[in-house]
Amino acid sequence: MSSSPATAPIRAPFDLHCHILPAWDDGPKTLELSLGMIERALKAGIETIVATPHVGRAFRGVEHPAASIPAGVERLQTELDSRGLGVKIVPGAEILLGSVDLRREGGILPEWTVGGMKKYALVESPYGSWPNFGNELLYELGRRGVKPIIAHPERYVDVQKDIAKIETAVRQGALLQITAGSILGQTTKEMQNSCFQLLDAGWVHLVASDAHNNSHAWPGETIKTVEKRVGSARARQIFEDNPRAVLEGQSLARQAAPEKSSSGLGRLFGARRLRYKKQRKGPRGCDAPFACFCCLFSCHFRFSLQQQNSVWQERMYN
Ligand SMILES: [Fe+2]
Repeated sequence: MSSSPATAPIRAPFDLHCHILPAWDDGPKTLELSLGMIERALKAGIETIVATPHVGRAFRGVEHPAASIPAGVERLQTELDSRGLGVKIVPGAEILLGSVDLRREGGILPEWTVGGMKKYALVESPYGSWPNFGNELLYELGRRGVKPIIAHPERYVDVQKDIAKIETAVRQGALLQITAGSILGQTTKEMQNSCFQLLDAGWVHLVASDAHNNSHAWPGETIKTVEKRVGSARARQIFEDNPRAVLEGQSLARQAAPEKSSSGLGRLFGARRLRYKKQRKGPRGCDAPFACFCCLFSCHFRFSLQQQNSVWQERMYN
């Protein structure tokens, strides 16, 4: 598969993070619901979906072993083929960091990786934040030749407060996948802002749906927003070239630097806020004699974000 010409409209035929398997985790409960998602995906221009059931988390009292994912994908693909629905389902997983031993003697299981190729693995944090041990585990993956893809970094409270929290992982070679619904502001303002900051920083490699049901946005619905933010060269990489490379088990090409967008007061203030965060001092980013007041305000702010996050996650996943 080759890249489309630079003048062609950008397409988004791939979704690399989707809970599409029926009656599996917190995704669709029945085959009919799963097929309903596929029909909407087709309308949104999707051609290939990576099924990424949760690994390391039990839902509805059941935790399906990673080894059973390829068989689940095959069953769904058979159903799609028999109905003439032209979407290809590729096996994958969403690994909960810390739940499986990425340092195990036998190495990385193919079932943990995209297409079973042991080249890329989608990982998520067990908390509403990016844990300090996260980078160590990503390093372990990298040491075994597997590139980690960090799912929805915009969801983590500490990344929302300062995207620099995820910088080390990116510098070490992890890919970032942000979620279409977050970009469109369908979740919280904090998640949307975080997406924009990550895009502006040039750290985003992929946009996926993380769909669990038929209310989630598909990547194609965000092309205009992302293109406006990073320019067409980088947007084409995000929607076409990068996911294609991941699916083929190839390395990503050198990433185009995001083009400066033309306007936007929000963007201006966002950039200023980032600069301020880099300059600030102390654990809470404030100096005496205001430290106490700032600490109180910071704690309150963090607590509010966590509450909003848990309300959102409950709404989306239950
Ligand atoms: Fe997910």
